[in-house]
Amino acid sequence: MKTRYCLVGTGSRGLSMFAKDLVGEYADVAELTGLCDINPGRLRYAQEYLGQSIPTFTDFGTMLREVPCDTVIVTTPDYTHAGYIVQALEQGKDVITEKPMTTTAPMCRSILEAEARTGHNVRVTFNYRYAPYKTEVKRLLKEGVIGEIHSVEFRWYLDTVHGADYFRRWHAYKDRSGGLIVHKSTHHFDLVNWWLDSEPEEVVAMGSRQYYLGSRQPGHGQRCHTCSVQETCPFYLDLSRDEKLKRLYLENEHYDGYYRDGCVFSEVSDIEDTLSVLVRYVNGVQLTYALTAATSFEGWSVAFNGSRGRLEAFEPECFVPEFDQTRFEDRSSSQHRILADWRRSEPGHPAPVESLQIRVYPLFGGVKTWDVPHQREGHGGGDRRLKDSLFRGVSEDPLGHAAGSRAGAMSILIGVAANISMAERRFVRIQDLLAPEASESFKG
Ligand SMILES: NC(=O)c1ccc[n+]([C@@H]2O[C@H](COP(=O)([O-])OP(=O)(O)OC[C@H]3O[C@@H](n4cnc5c(N)ncnc54)[C@H](O)[C@@H]3O)[C@@H](O)[C@H]2O)c1
Repeated sequence: MKTRYCLVGTGSRGLSMFAKDLVGEYADVAELTGLCDINPGRLRYAQEYLGQSIPTFTDFGTMLREVPCDTVIVTTPDYTHAGYIVQALEQGKDVITEKPMTTTAPMCRSILEAEARTGHNVRVTFNYRYAPYKTEVKRLLKEGVIGEIHSVEFRWYLDTVHGADYFRRWHAYKDRSGGLIVHKSTHHFDLVNWWLDSEPEEVVAMGSRQYYLGSRQPGHGQRCHTCSVQETCPFYLDLSRDEKLKRLYLENEHYDGYYRDGCVFSEVSDIEDTLSVLVRYVNGVQLTYALTAATSFEGWSVAFNGSRGRLEAFEPECFVPEFDQTRFEDRSSSQHRILADWRRSEPGHPAPVESLQIRVYPLFGGVKTWDVPHQREGHGGGDRRLKDSLFRGVSEDPLGHAAGSRAGAMSILIGVAANISMAERRFVRIQDLLAPEASESFKG
């Protein structure tokens, strides 16, 4: 029998990552029985996009009452996840939720408690785990190639196309996304937790807004559509020129006032673009983590130091190799923003990325390398493999790819602790965030 899915949040991710494949690629094992969103225009677009008249609802409770459903997929803005997850569990459904599982410690606890109380379960869609390159790092560490792990150095770079996008809408407000340290870094902290097979114990952090500052673009407005400095702004986004952005957002903003092209330089938004975090794990490993949201390239690098050597991995994702790509429309086009290894590129000579290397430097000399073919599909090949696991199921999971609510919680609690640490200038213990009496003191 097919598993019946309802989906709440018919925005970009909900439609392109899940709904489309549920009615296509996985239609032999899955049935999409209901769609819910607070925006009726986006629900209409969803039906058109999917080419099917799936029942639509603006009220979640009504959807659960009126259509058959085994599993709810939650793809709404981050701060709304917990309410839907708990309600779905209480109604006897399993849940698949987009990352971050939620944004605060109290909401995190409410999900863990609801899951334990109802006996139904939550899967968190940590797609990065499934990417073959990151999987190979996990396999090598688990095999013990560098012995006992002592420390991790992890850096993540977001560029002035994708990184800037987090400053345009609800992500730009801590009370809706938890800031990049929760919204984005949940992926990265989950990878480290999974690679180490451990949980965080204590966190200290620094963060600031260094690039996306109002003073950098005098005269800017609150959104691109009506802005008076469109001609000169390197971040001017014209929603009407992209068919998907136009149909999904611009044409439906009169329903709910949600505009997709908020000014990246807004003084009202309150998230950091530059973050540094130290984490001590329960197994004694120390993590040094940094995130930057305004570079000309995207990608990440990680290094593990262990009792028998050091393992290094590096993945370039995008790069704008030519100078002076200041027009957003040009810079974001696939002609200029290309897959290239920025460390070896020169203007006019982008260095291709055919395979990704893992290098191990044994403690007393030498080097060993492993090559993993580069995957061009979504999130380093992680999206497809995650969906196969979610919708077709897996009989064996030797590296523990499937992430549940505990992993969802541990990855966001590092970010929650980092937010507290930045605000109060102190170390924060993860255990304190999970204690029931912490509800009032840590709003996270
Ligand atoms: N795993 C990944 O790599 C990845 C990538 C992109 C987005 N995401 C996650 O997917 C989720 C959705 O992101 P998105 O980019 O599609 O956002 P979006 O803003 O494009 O879409 C969100 C949708 O939810 C609807 N919505 C808002 N509040 C609602 C509410 N209270 N109830 C019901 N519907 C509501 C909006 O109308 C919109 O259609 C987020 O949690 C985000 O973090 C994950």
